[in-house]
Amino acid sequence: MKHRFLLVLALLSLGSCNKGDNGASARAELAANEFAQTLRARLQAAMAQGGPVNAVSVCSEQAPAVAREVSARHHVSIGRASLRARNASNSGPAWVQQWLFAQGERAAQGLSPVRSREGDTVRLLRPLAVEGVCVTCHGARDAMQPALREALSARYRSDRAVDYRAGDLRGALWVEAPVR
Ligand code: HEC
Repeated sequence: MKHRFLLVLALLSLGSCNKGDNGASARAELAANEFAQTLRARLQAAMAQGGPVNAVSVCSEQAPAVAREVSARHHVSIGRASLRARNASNSGPAWVQQWLFAQGERAAQGLSPVRSREGDTVRLLRPLAVEGVCVTCHGARDAMQPALREALSARYRSDRAVDYRAGDLRGALWVEAPVR
């Protein structure tokens, strides 16, 4: 009797551990890590190689390409979103926009990742903070070297992703992983 009770308890806790999502949560976390790490590595390499003007192409061409690679590898949808996007197509799904609106413009400190599930989809959102290196391309326009300012305005006519300071909330990395 006692053993059966313990067995039920063990099964229950097992069930609540993976939430019966067949690894969707794990896929989401893995995809988020890969996306963030690959982007960071390519950004750093491009900055070291040819400075920020050269690195603009990493953000504009590589970011969507890396997102496609990672989403295909892990069977997820993935992207970055912001209230003040540089590229208007980075608005994100409705639930991400809602989270961004609820936060508003604020410091990133104190915010934690959000994990939830909607029907057969596991959702993951990680807040993105502005770091020192980000200010080069997301800080005040006046502080940018003219070549960088021109490279950005040539690609993004309605660029809203400027005037950030280190520590600000820049946006969010989001993942949707279908339960399979
Ligand atoms: C070399 C310039 C450059 C640097 C440095 C840079 N970014 Fe960006 N960032 C861009 C460009 C260009 C885009 C637009 C990408 C696109 O077209 O999808 C962008 C887009 C983004 C987006 C997607 C939302 C949007 O505005 O379109 C986020 C989030 C973001 N950057 C965060 C960061 C963070 C965090 C850092 C620092 C770790 C950083 N960026 C550093 C140039 C840069």
